[in-house]
Amino acid sequence: MLKPHLDEAKKRTRSLVKIENFKMARDLKTLGLGKTYYVKTYGCQMNVHDSENIKAILEMMGFKAALDMEQADLILLNTCAIRENAHNKVFGMIGRLKHMKEKRPNIITGVCGCMAQEEVVVNEILDKYSFIDLVFGTHNINELPEILNKAMHENKIEVNVKSIEGDIIENMPAKRDSKYKAFVNIMYGCDKFCTYCIVPYTRGKQRSRRFGDIIREVKSLKDAGYKEVTLLGQNVNAYGKDLNLEYDMSDLLEEVAKTGIERVRFVTSHPWDFTDKMIEVIGKYPNIMPYIHLPLQSGSDRILKLMGRRYTKKSYLELFNKIKKTVPNASITTDIIVGFPGETEEDFEETLDVVNVCRYDSAFTFIFSPREGTPAAKMKDDIPLEVKEERLHKLNELVNKYAKEANNKYLGKVVPVLLENVSEKDSNMLAGYTDTMKLVNVKASKDMLGKIVEVKITDVKTWSMDGEIA
Ligand code: 5AD
Ligand code: SF4
Repeated sequence: MLKPHLDEAKKRTRSLVKIENFKMARDLKTLGLGKTYYVKTYGCQMNVHDSENIKAILEMMGFKAALDMEQADLILLNTCAIRENAHNKVFGMIGRLKHMKEKRPNIITGVCGCMAQEEVVVNEILDKYSFIDLVFGTHNINELPEILNKAMHENKIEVNVKSIEGDIIENMPAKRDSKYKAFVNIMYGCDKFCTYCIVPYTRGKQRSRRFGDIIREVKSLKDAGYKEVTLLGQNVNAYGKDLNLEYDMSDLLEEVAKTGIERVRFVTSHPWDFTDKMIEVIGKYPNIMPYIHLPLQSGSDRILKLMGRRYTKKSYLELFNKIKKTVPNASITTDIIVGFPGETEEDFEETLDVVNVCRYDSAFTFIFSPREGTPAAKMKDDIPLEVKEERLHKLNELVNKYAKEANNKYLGKVVPVLLENVSEKDSNMLAGYTDTMKLVNVKASKDMLGKIVEVKITDVKTWSMDGEIA
């Protein structure tokens, strides 16, 4: 049993990260024959992409996708640790798994992802939910075949979670959710240690992939007919900083744009490492989408300092204005936390002030959630929950007002949309995103799927739009 360890996870070693190719022992390639799997994914795009890797590995082992969880022989929960409610949802689901296992004792159940990297979570699973068959972390997805083999052949829970860094595994197979857009990891982990955030502990030290490996992956996706790639990392702007080479994120973005793939996106950007050169590159290449997610977290300098964010309200706004100047049609979205320990009404007003200046296209807003082991969890938090909820409500009203305003500007305009799937609201319509990441439902036939078309916007709501092919 290898359990996660918080103190180990905090450490940042200077040792070079090993780069290895994914491989799987021949005798494990039949382990899943005749069995089905279901992977339930929680959380961010990084987890979504990890699940794509996990599904491909399972299929290499002979497993087939189950139509739903109730029928699957193997159920994996790929979990998110970012806030308490994500954590609670997973424990609710683990409770459901217990009932399923009582009815169908032969099913195999597992927990992976960010919560598996948490010492407290693994201890709780061992104490109270030891019917779970396997637990593995974010650093050793490539070892899933061996871990699963042990879990299936030994009559005890198999826990295998590494706390220190992890290697970079190239050539990981992926069963991608979309035929048209693909996630491409450019880096793993995060070294920023914002005081509220658990990610540097669950995802480990920053490890950038090699430039050439990333470009090769993008080119092969383009050759396979993909229209869009999203470069993924917890903090993509810091790409390459751990490698000490002459190139950085702006060089990578430029090289990816030069592959000629039709759409390039990237998430997530920390304002700290957003260079002028990066803004220039975004403005220069039409296939880099004018959409930037720029987390603010708070508009108060005092709170930003407590959060360890390393920028001020003023420098954030300067960056925002620079981006808007160079990429005038850019849609900019953000993340905001309310109720950080010690946040006063004045601090909160500063946040509202930034929202009033930036008029974001949209924003993800959260109430601060203490995460065990992070510095902010130890800070004195004496704001009553009602006050935090009131602040969230007030913030959301403002955010929604500007989101609707931003969308209203699209009415009657013609914009490019990548048609990705059949619309959830109407099976005669297709849904897709504009270059600026607005969701549009379009009257179009299914043979248009996978095409980027010019769409005239005919109706605008707060979170989506309707349109027809122009
Ligand atoms: N509490 C509330 N929100 C958080 N986030 C990260 N950690 C916490 C936390 N402890 C939010 C941040 C981040 C987004 C992904 O989640 O806004 O940008
Ligand atoms: Fe968390 Fe900050 Fe790293 Fe983002 S940059 S993952 S908020 S520590």
